[in-house]
Amino acid sequence: MTNQELLALAEEAKDHAYAPYSRYHVGAALLCRDGTVYLGSNIENASYGATNCAERTAFFKAIYDGKRDFDAIAIVGNARDGAEDFCFPCGICRQIMLEFCDRDFRLLFHNEEGTVREFTLFQIIPFGFTPEHLATDESFPEEE
Ligand code: THU
Repeated sequence: MTNQELLALAEEAKDHAYAPYSRYHVGAALLCRDGTVYLGSNIENASYGATNCAERTAFFKAIYDGKRDFDAIAIVGNARDGAEDFCFPCGICRQIMLEFCDRDFRLLFHNEEGTVREFTLFQIIPFGFTPEHLATDESFPEEE
C-alpha cells in the first residue's frame, strides 16, 4: 500500500462524512501492519460535543475487530467551499493514537496542490501521556 493509495482511500472515506453542522468533511484511512485498512469519517451530533472525528471512527472500528498493530493513517478534509487543505488531527485523536500506536506511527496528509506531508506520531505529540506512565498491576499492593 503506497502513501498515495492510502490517501486515495481517505478521500473515499470522506464521502461518508455526516457533517451537517460544520460541513467540514473528513476522511481517514488507517493501515494495519497486517495490510488491512479501516476507513472512517467524521460523524457529527446536534450536541456538537458528541461528534466523532474521522480518525477515531477508523480506530474504533479496527480496535473492535481486534486489530492492535498500526502502521499509518491518511487524513483528508475539506472546507465548506470544498477547498482541500492539510487536516491535522485534534488533541483527542492524537491521544487515542498514543494509546494504540508506537512513536513511529506515520500520519499522511495532502492538500489541494497535491503536496503530501508525512509526520510520525512522536512529531505531532512529543510529550504525551501514554499507557507506560501508569503503574502496572504488579506494582500495586495486593488487595485485602
Ligand atoms: N474533524 C475530524 O474529523 N478530524 C480532524 O482531524 C479535525 C476535525 C471533524 C470534527 C468535526 O466534525 C469537523 O471536523 C469540524 O471540527
